[in-house]
Amino acid sequence: MKSDFSPYVPRPATLVAKKELNEYVTLFEFAQDSGKPLAHRPGQFIQVSVYGVGEAPFSVSSPPRTDHHHFEIAVRRVGSVTNALHGLEVGAKIGIRGPYGSYFPMQKFVGQDFLFVAGGLGYIPLRSVLHYMLRHRDEFGKLTLLVGTRNPGERIFTDQLAEISKRSDLDVLETVDAPDEEWQGNVGVITTLFPKIRINPETTYVATIGPPVMYRFVIQECSKLGIPQDRIYVSLERRMKCGLGKCGHCQINGLNCCLDGPVFCYTEIAGLGEAL
Ligand SMILES: Cc1cc2nc3c(=O)[nH]c(=O)nc-3n(C[C@H](O)[C@H](O)[C@H](O)COP(=O)(O)OP(=O)(O)OC[C@H]3O[C@@H](n4cnc5c(N)ncnc54)[C@H](O)[C@@H]3O)c2cc1C
Ligand code: FES
Repeated sequence: MKSDFSPYVPRPATLVAKKELNEYVTLFEFAQDSGKPLAHRPGQFIQVSVYGVGEAPFSVSSPPRTDHHHFEIAVRRVGSVTNALHGLEVGAKIGIRGPYGSYFPMQKFVGQDFLFVAGGLGYIPLRSVLHYMLRHRDEFGKLTLLVGTRNPGERIFTDQLAEISKRSDLDVLETVDAPDEEWQGNVGVITTLFPKIRINPETTYVATIGPPVMYRFVIQECSKLGIPQDRIYVSLERRMKCGLGKCGHCQINGLNCCLDGPVFCYTEIAGLGEAL
């Protein structure tokens, strides 16, 4: 059957809501003008065009929906496309291509425990996995969420985190590297939370996303807990252009991050020098 969209042509979507998560990061809710669901899998990204400015990749932060054509991205202002996005008003049109890339194999995680390790903006794509699991809560075992941020001002999704922290079927532990006067919680990098968690390494899968410096230390902590490497998933961000495996912008040792990734099982990339 012929596909109803070209991978090269952006499809129109409309901004239906936006909410500042902190000084630099805003959450955007878009609706596809086609009325069809985005049909993404947790961990995938889309290419977003701001007309007249340019295109950039963003992880889909909302969980997949089959009954809804709305989806969310959360964007940090760093340059031309991201600043233009922040300037859009509700009702504005954008173009989207995708969803693209590999994703977290949710069926493999059914019946298993799960540890999320989210550093900074890494919480944005992990939120899609987490909320999928919370929506299908009976299908998964013990869930543990670790969140680390540089300072309290850079925390994101604070209201949602406060809400889900009250749940008895999810353990949430948060830390900041540098506290302010009001911060009452843990202080230290995200790996300082590992001694506080209780998990069974034989039944636990891990997903970790964060700044590049974080991965090596998180993987060391997972090894100390006895979690096998084939139970650890990471997501790698590289500069991207086409998102289709054509331009070579996102290559790591011969892997195209846009096609083969961004989500990798750690065993797929453990030996690749440039990867982590
Ligand atoms: C698969 C994938 C998923 C992503 N998901 C998100 C997301 O959910 N939320 C989000 O805010 N961002 C995300 N990003 C990063 C986002 O794509 C970039 O911030 C964006 O492309 C910057 O575009 P710009 O035109 O605003 O910046 P530009 O004007 O192109 O650049 C401005 C500055 O930002 C730096 N920069 C640009 N791209 C990156 C990058 N990828 N990493 C680090 N520095 C960069 C440039 O070096 C420059 O200093 C993701 C990137 C990838 C590859
Ligand atoms: S972004 Fe072009 S090959 Fe990956």
